[in-house]
Amino acid sequence: MQFRNWFEAAVFDRAILQDTDILKALRLPKQKLQVIGRGSFATVYQHPTEKNKVIKVTKDKNDIRNLIKAQSLKSPNIVKLHPIAGNFSVGVGNLYLVVADKVEGRSFPYTSDIIATLIGGKSGMENAAKASVKIGQIGLSPFRDKVLNRLGLDDERERSKLSSLLLTVSHLEKRGIEFFDFTDNVIDTGDHHVIIDMGL
Ligand SMILES: Nc1ncnc2c1ncn2[C@@H]1O[C@H](COP(=O)(O)OP(=O)(O)O)[C@@H](O)[C@H]1O
Ligand SMILES: [Mg+2]
Repeated sequence: MQFRNWFEAAVFDRAILQDTDILKALRLPKQKLQVIGRGSFATVYQHPTEKNKVIKVTKDKNDIRNLIKAQSLKSPNIVKLHPIAGNFSVGVGNLYLVVADKVEGRSFPYTSDIIATLIGGKSGMENAAKASVKIGQIGLSPFRDKVLNRLGLDDERERSKLSSLLLTVSHLEKRGIEFFDFTDNVIDTGDHHVIIDMGL
């Protein structure tokens, strides 16, 4: 990301939106909001009245557009949004606000590079890039086994969780949503790998 973008997001956009503006947009009474996550574009708050939900405030229009578009897949691999007065997102100035399921778990145990390696197979990154994510299954091969084994993730359950995620990613791709930045944007809940950020 360009320094300028980072600077604007970090110093200006995030700072400008006050708790009162967020609460007003959600038609909630005045109260203190607790920040539970920060990214390059978004600040994420605990929903004050519903403990299984979060409020995400972001300047990343792509993230919001893609998350909304992806809802129709009804996939356990995509964070669920909750309508706010009939719409999935509310605009506040140049920012967007969504209410989403709170996704709890550990960080995604694979880097984007490892994913590319698993998809590309032994022939490596160049083929992986070409192959895009036109696969839904992590097929068995000694090479993939070795990669997964080194990560301690070579059991059936982990393999099927990863296959399910990649199948969802291929469905996203068919809908024109490119998802490749797995780092920090996928949470492993134990049952599923859940995408929480579909931004740039
Ligand atoms: N639905 C969610 N449930 C729990 N935590 C979340 C959720 N969405 C975002 N977060 C937390 O907030 C951080 C920033 O959110 P993210 O959407 O990735 O913002 P950015 O677009 O700025 O990267 C995430 O890394 C994560 O820790
Ligand atoms: Mg992110």
